Amino acid sequence: MTIKTVGVVGAGTMGNGIAQVFAQAGFAVRLVDVAQPMLDRARKSIEKSLGKFVEKGTLAAEDRDAAMARLTTMTTLDKLSDVDYVVEAIVEDAEAKRTLFTSLDAFVKPEVVLASNTSSISITLIGAATKRPDKVLGMHFMNPVPLMALVELIRGQATSADSMRIASDLCTTLGKTAVEAADYPGFIANRLLMPMINEAIYAVMEGVGTPDAIDAVMKLGMNHPMGPLTLADFIGLDVCLAIMNVLHDGLGDPKYRPCPLLRRMVAAGHLGRKSGQGFYAY
Ligand SMILES: NC(=O)c1ccc[n+]([C@@H]2O[C@H](COP(=O)([O-])OP(=O)(O)OC[C@H]3O[C@@H](n4cnc5c(N)ncnc54)[C@H](O)[C@@H]3O)[C@@H](O)[C@H]2O)c1
Repeated sequence: MTIKTVGVVGAGTMGNGIAQVFAQAGFAVRLVDVAQPMLDRARKSIEKSLGKFVEKGTLAAEDRDAAMARLTTMTTLDKLSDVDYVVEAIVEDAEAKRTLFTSLDAFVKPEVVLASNTSSISITLIGAATKRPDKVLGMHFMNPVPLMALVELIRGQATSADSMRIASDLCTTLGKTAVEAADYPGFIANRLLMPMINEAIYAVMEGVGTPDAIDAVMKLGMNHPMGPLTLADFIGLDVCLAIMNVLHDGLGDPKYRPCPLLRRMVAAGHLGRKSGQGFYAY
């Protein structure tokens, strides 16, 4: 099957970036979110991001307009009945994803691959909510999607080699590099990244250093392009907490215990960049 039309479900931080890269690469994109304001915001941020490429001279103005014209937004799943591929990017919650995948299974053509952008949740568990577990896989884009080269591809227990090949070919078409990971909590990226971020939050809580000091040590001393607390704000502290919970529950080791300060900040609605307040103010 030739993939021409792609459905993206969830229009938050990740969904809008994923929709953008598919539209830029020539696919017709149907972007779905339960919240109309998120769809309006996504359209604006995609236009702004494409505008930056035009300003830099890496994208022609007519290509920006063509990409925008390929994007349609909607609040229900029924218009996904003729898409050729789906990427899900809703909240990092296993039950929400399983419920959505059961619905997608009903609306989307049976031969179509359903990919999840989950950061940590079991692909096998998500796939088991459908009648096509062989066509469910993880397609973990990095934030910000238009700029980051990596896509982590996750093969669930039942995912077929054919589905993995389709996803891998799509990554190539998008200009991304695919790296395969097995279906264990956090896969490769967040198994390594999130415990470091969590530890940085413990260091703030224990007064080892201020957020500025901790970020400066990792930037200037370890050559990280961004400090872990700046990165946590960028990812979203609610997303960080959800991932730590999956690591802790799934691996059972107390070293993955989410930092109490992270829990407290999320409870206060201090979610980082998207809420205007996190380890830094925005
Ligand atoms: N934030 C990151 O840096 C990052 C990086 C890689 C992967 N991810 C993963 O991507 C996914 C999305 O994360 P995000 O940061 O974009 O979250 P977000 O909170 O910014 O956006 C989630 C969106 O999903 C929508 N939504 C919720 N339930 C829905 C449903 N049933 N149907 C349609 N839309 C629904 C919400 O309205 C919201 O717009 C998560 O699985 C997350 O773990 C996040």
